Amino acid sequence: MTETLQDIARRMVARGKGILAADESSGTIKKRFDTIGLASTADSRRDYREMLFRADTAMREHISGVILYDETIRQSARDGTPLVEIIKAAGSIPGIKVDAGAKPLAGYPGETITEGLDGLRERLAEYYALGARFAKWRGVIAIGEGKPTDYAIVANADALARYAALCQEAGIVPIVEPEVLMDGEEATHDIDRCAAVTRTTLHAVFAALDAARVDLTGIILKPNMVIAGKDCPNQASAAEVAEKTLVVLKQTVPTAVPGIAFLSGGQSDEAATEHLSLMNAAGPLPWALTFSYGRALQAAAIKAWGGKPENVAAGQRAFLHRARMNGLAAGGAWTP
Ligand code: 13P
Repeated sequence: MTETLQDIARRMVARGKGILAADESSGTIKKRFDTIGLASTADSRRDYREMLFRADTAMREHISGVILYDETIRQSARDGTPLVEIIKAAGSIPGIKVDAGAKPLAGYPGETITEGLDGLRERLAEYYALGARFAKWRGVIAIGEGKPTDYAIVANADALARYAALCQEAGIVPIVEPEVLMDGEEATHDIDRCAAVTRTTLHAVFAALDAARVDLTGIILKPNMVIAGKDCPNQASAAEVAEKTLVVLKQTVPTAVPGIAFLSGGQSDEAATEHLSLMNAAGPLPWALTFSYGRALQAAAIKAWGGKPENVAAGQRAFLHRARMNGLAAGGAWTP
């Protein structure tokens, strides 16, 4: 029987589980591999991701779904098993990044628009056939002097909404990701500025989703947490991050949305875990609240692996540890 969008969305945010964002573009994964002095090739990218997806306990117990990159969804493990099959065998759902990246927004220096709508209907049909049951599209909002502009917010919200409608038409759950950046050239904003921009952005996103006739019961929202900019001298406490993030989400996210899965966005591994746990401990909340982390789930694993076959077990242990800690945080039960 074909699963409904609501069934898939519920599985994506099942209690104690969250999403592994392993959809780094070839440019981004190269930057990650540079930190361990490893050349980024199709084989090294495959070996790395195979290591993660074969970390059976981590995958089975804590990872509800994996966001893949176009190259990865088509790759097979060393023994010839498609990586998608390894993910499914662990009871996890394959997903796919479908945006083509944030490009400079003409006329608006320092702001971006995410591209990738042309031909998206056809690509979604292909990804569905390859096994994807959810997708991701990331709009990027930068804070700076005179930024973000209303136009950049509305243009990105509209693209997210058009993407989400196409996904639902294809039987694919859209992860709707409007990321207000905590880093970048202008990272000196404090937490209240982030709160204001995140509130405006989420209002615009839900207005656009409504106008595009997207069924909110069949999406997952992937927002940033409300947090001070990375270089801001005035850093907020973990309790304040949790409190202000929940205030903004309650002001903007309809209760029809089944789940919210945060990005980590450059937070330290521990901070990303602690913030999520504090928010869940402050429940009950109208939506499931979990993680969809890239860096905060993978940084320790990449380091422990170091690109060496003899370190695969160590890399998997490091991944399991972060997955377990974030699984606890998704239930509000993580303690330092
Ligand atoms: P980070 O958790 O590293 O921010 O990545 C999540 C993601 O998918 C960003 O699009």
